[in-house]
Amino acid sequence: MLNNLKQQPADALLALIKLHNADPREDKIDLGVGVYRTDTGATPVFESVKAAEKLLLDTQDSKAYLGPEGDMGFVHALMPYVFGAANPTMDGRIDGMQAPGGTGAVRLAVALAKKAGVTRILMGTPSWPNHAQIAADVGVEIKGFNHATKAGVADMDALREAIAGAQATDAIMLHGCCHNPTGIDYTKAEWDEIAGLIKAKGILPILDLAYQGLGQGMEEDAYGIRRVLAEVPEALIAYSCDKNFGYYRDRVGALYVLAQNADSVNIVLSNGATLARAAWSMPPDHGGAVVRLILSDEGLTKSWLNELDVMRARMNEVRAKLGGAGVQGSVDFAPFGTQNGLFSIVPLTGDQVLAMREKHGVYMAGSGRINVAGLTMGNIDKFIAAVADVTA
Ligand code: LMR
Repeated sequence: MLNNLKQQPADALLALIKLHNADPREDKIDLGVGVYRTDTGATPVFESVKAAEKLLLDTQDSKAYLGPEGDMGFVHALMPYVFGAANPTMDGRIDGMQAPGGTGAVRLAVALAKKAGVTRILMGTPSWPNHAQIAADVGVEIKGFNHATKAGVADMDALREAIAGAQATDAIMLHGCCHNPTGIDYTKAEWDEIAGLIKAKGILPILDLAYQGLGQGMEEDAYGIRRVLAEVPEALIAYSCDKNFGYYRDRVGALYVLAQNADSVNIVLSNGATLARAAWSMPPDHGGAVVRLILSDEGLTKSWLNELDVMRARMNEVRAKLGGAGVQGSVDFAPFGTQNGLFSIVPLTGDQVLAMREKHGVYMAGSGRINVAGLTMGNIDKFIAAVADVTA
């Protein structure tokens, strides 16, 4: 029976981790998978996380099961940051459940949407490749529309056209901030328009917020999703703490539901619990418990927010330097200076991406996506020179 299975290629993005590790060149540069790095190339555990982990070690008195919804203290502690401190539940219309990382949250959102009758998801492309993989696995069609224009801004005409042509059984997937892979986010005015368009069409928004705090700031990065939620009767929100708490491998995320009233929220979440039980039973506890501890202690919260500020400032510094490089070879680096978050796309062909790796030891996704946090003041000139070389 198992002989029927065909060999599958490794996930192209995750495969880069191993390829990079196996490269003996000392000046190699890893711009692959999206993890934050310091100016020395390290991805350290947050100090606030270390402190809360110690606290957890000392105070946790049981590891007995919690249930498919995970740690609801964690789920609720995040809500003021995501939905606004003034009314984080939107009068009882929002609640959530813990999920294993952003992927688990997106998976739950797509599966719930399908269970509710969604047959197709409108999505700006390119997008995070796992969005399409998850949709295919769950059995929901993706209808792509162009996310960004050649001028490096959101392609609002394509988005308007996609929403105008939507069917009643469509959902729309939007990146809340720090668009992955382009770094091209909607402006506030564009979000205002998008919220109105979605409301008028009556389609279900699925909002993926995986990088809050890594773009313009915690509040600023929530603008878009809050604007959409203020307009629509219902929505699904997939949230990841893997980046803004540096919890990557420990998988910390949450799925939130906005519905018309608290009773409807509970019904949707009961379906979420059923799906979770069949998939992973319950999410891993550790990271969620630590985030809960951080957010329930003023000192730890302050220290975490300071750490996020430092990360954002460093990425802005890298982006400013990239943007200042102007045109090198055939690539104009100027737009990199104003894009948001960890990612940007260098317009390279597949062969040029390969040459970046083989000739220069620069590892980046096949799409030309780079993780700008992999650049440091020590390697950025080499990177820019390599791009100039392969595109000359
Ligand atoms: C990325 O896009 O690099 C991250 O979201 C990590 C992942 O799981 O793909």
